[in-house]
Amino acid sequence: MELRITVLPGDGVGPEVTREAVKVLRTVRDCGGCDVQFREALIGGAAVRQTGSPLPPATLDACQSSSAVLLGAVGGPEFDNAPAHQRPEKGLLELRQALGGFANLRPARAWDALASCSPFRPEVIKDVDILVVRELLGGLYFGEPRGYLQNGHRSGYNTMRYSEPEIERIADVAFTAARTRRRKVTSVDKANVLETSRLWREVVTRVAARYPDVALDHVYVDACAMYLCTNPRRFDVLLTENLFGDILSDQASTFSGSLGMVPSATIGGRIDLYEPVHGSAPDIAGQSKANPLGAILSAAMLLRHTAKLEREAQQIEEAVEFALRAGFRTADIAQPGCTLVSTSAMGDVVERRLADKLQSQYAFHAV
Ligand code: IPM
Ligand code: MG
Repeated sequence: MELRITVLPGDGVGPEVTREAVKVLRTVRDCGGCDVQFREALIGGAAVRQTGSPLPPATLDACQSSSAVLLGAVGGPEFDNAPAHQRPEKGLLELRQALGGFANLRPARAWDALASCSPFRPEVIKDVDILVVRELLGGLYFGEPRGYLQNGHRSGYNTMRYSEPEIERIADVAFTAARTRRRKVTSVDKANVLETSRLWREVVTRVAARYPDVALDHVYVDACAMYLCTNPRRFDVLLTENLFGDILSDQASTFSGSLGMVPSATIGGRIDLYEPVHGSAPDIAGQSKANPLGAILSAAMLLRHTAKLEREAQQIEEAVEFALRAGFRTADIAQPGCTLVSTSAMGDVVERRLADKLQSQYAFHAV
């Protein structure tokens, strides 16, 4: 299979971390795993600087004609006061909408090797392995009407809206994912207050009937935030609407020891989009300090979901685990006695381990 990947490095540490993810994908290709072609395009602040738009038409065209998109990060302090149409985040939101992926998968797992990096006691997060399934194209992010009203003073307003088909399709993704895991879906809402949430709960319950082998429970979003701290092992798949998912997925990332560790996949649309959950981290940009593992693990998700190369995806995850167990650390996950490495050196460790594994695997199959 030929994979055509559009790489959108973006802003801040985006270019540094995507370089390492591409390095790893090249290795899969060079070891004979699959045929991959890359092309780069502009997004976010980098695109505003060069073209005046955070999502230039050339970028959108490139993405629309690819098998998948691999994105770094967007945003930076110089755009804090930019007009709405020139905000880097606008480029990302428009891209998500154009590609149509409504299901954002954000795995949040505790890595044994990083237990002491997390703010939690090791016994609380041991074996935590949660998949946040965040609805990505609805809710307050995109609901209309939205805007400002001028009436003596200004008011700002947004609309939270979900239709039954929108809820149904994201619930299907969550239940399907649960079948490959521990067969439990926890649906998050605020059904004690919001109409959207009452509808959400009703539709999710209806969809659950089609998955009798998967357990379903419902929690309010505020209680969910608390359970994530007190008893995170109670969760397997966490199904949420857009804004709740934005917040809870950052919270859940703390199990991984650092936001830099968390990958994401956006699927279900015309073109799949992969990006680490972390932002552009302007304070450390250009210093080769950023953690590339979230981007590398996003590349693994790309192989799993778009290319259906489950074995290669697992090999990348295993190579990441190897690098952590061997004590290699970027600054965000540094521990006493570990080997502090740069962004590219971390990529090299993962890449070399992966190359070793893949070469012996393919050599074995060639015999
Ligand atoms: C994320 C980010 C984005 C979001 C921003 C950058 C628009 O926080 O991917 O979680 O809110 O979805
Ligand atoms: Mg976020």
